[in-house]
Amino acid sequence: MSKIEVKNIFKIFGPHSAKWLPAARDGISKEDLLAKSGHTLGLRDISLSIEEGSIYVIMGLSGSGKSTLIRHFNRLIEPSAGQILVDGVDVVSLGKRELEVFRQKTMSMVFQRFGLFPHRTVLDNAAYGLTVQGVPKAEREKRALHWLDQVGLNGFEKQYPHQLSGGMQQRVGLARALATDAEILLMDEAFSALDPLIRREMQDNLLQLQAKLNKTIVFITHDLDEALRLGNRIAILKDGELVQEGTPEDILLNPANDYVQAFLQDVNRTKVLNAAHAVNPPRLTLTMRSRPTHALDRMQALSFEYAPVLDGKRLAGVLTATDAQRAVEAGARDVSAYVEDLASVPATAGLDEVLARLVHSDQPVAVTGDDDEFIGMLSRKKVVDLVTPTLQEGTDGVEPSTASTQAVSSTDDSAVGKKESETTA
Ligand SMILES: Nc1ncnc2c1ncn2[C@@H]1O[C@H](COP(=O)(O)OP(=O)(O)O)[C@@H](O)[C@H]1O
Ligand SMILES: [Mg+2]
Repeated sequence: MSKIEVKNIFKIFGPHSAKWLPAARDGISKEDLLAKSGHTLGLRDISLSIEEGSIYVIMGLSGSGKSTLIRHFNRLIEPSAGQILVDGVDVVSLGKRELEVFRQKTMSMVFQRFGLFPHRTVLDNAAYGLTVQGVPKAEREKRALHWLDQVGLNGFEKQYPHQLSGGMQQRVGLARALATDAEILLMDEAFSALDPLIRREMQDNLLQLQAKLNKTIVFITHDLDEALRLGNRIAILKDGELVQEGTPEDILLNPANDYVQAFLQDVNRTKVLNAAHAVNPPRLTLTMRSRPTHALDRMQALSFEYAPVLDGKRLAGVLTATDAQRAVEAGARDVSAYVEDLASVPATAGLDEVLARLVHSDQPVAVTGDDDEFIGMLSRKKVVDLVTPTLQEGTDGVEPSTASTQAVSSTDDSAVGKKESETTA
């Protein structure tokens, strides 16, 4: 279900925005509009849909309209045209009192510069949103302490912001936003002021929290690595226009234009993409109780050399066609005694880790989820395609960017390729 629905938003900054709306609709460029009218085109015809419980990233260079867009969500900015629906309600239709409640309860915001009060303690800062809501002192301190603990700041509640590092200050900002219990978190470049290592820690912290909380998070960044790590979907803005919207893979694999491509240049794909992106869905699985003749027939019909064997949803191992043949000849009742171990990687393993595994062995590898649940077989071809998009496009003379990539390409010889095409065709 979509939590936030943005429909054909235009925003023109200046005293006569209505007058210049038709020109903006007709596609006048940002520069021309400014030169002709002194008005700034903030956003042009933006439509997007943000799913409940997802992390939605809005990305673009400075001045592309990211903050302008997100400020429409809690109506810090009114659109020149268009609608913003939150839980199906048009935020522009809210009265003064409704808007106040909406801002306190439905959305909370985390800012780039932390926005903490210097003369209040960490605890008071974390409890601030609850103070505004009129929550009694004992209750708000209890809740603030809980959230400070959740962001890893247990024991710091009596300190003042200046006594904390930047990363810790931003944790306070996050605790304050979470303490209000708002369903939607708006995070405007929340991690951009942090050092790279701290920034990564904060990203991990946010992902861990999100796994428990299932908030709807709108996260602004100008950093594609961050966008790809955090986002379930990503919207890319340029000069107030939406140039691309999609999943991280959509963006990585099919950049819409040079502007998006330029962002991709410095991205370390092997860190961003994981084993789940390189899975072949299973076409044949067996169980420990499968009869040998049945198993052999199925494998032969599909020309498979092996098939994964499950125990419930869990991966139990692999049965090769040769062993299935032996089981038939031995008159075994089921295949269980012939099942061998099958190497596996977790779906969340980065492709860098996966690559390291692949260069050391040409054996099949399964991809597993939580509790060893079998997801599918790892596709060597997909791994290579994902880390070397330039090769996919057939660009001449462009080498894969990492040595490990080349190593896999060269081990992905016809024998391995054959095996793979046989198991996945
Ligand atoms: N209040 C305002 N008045 C006039 N122009 C504005 C105002 N706010 C933003 N803009 C302009 O709108 C464009 C988008 O700005 P902004 O949303 O802050 O970009 P970003 O957050 O992506 O860096 C910029 O050209 C900016 O100068
Ligand atoms: Mg901004």
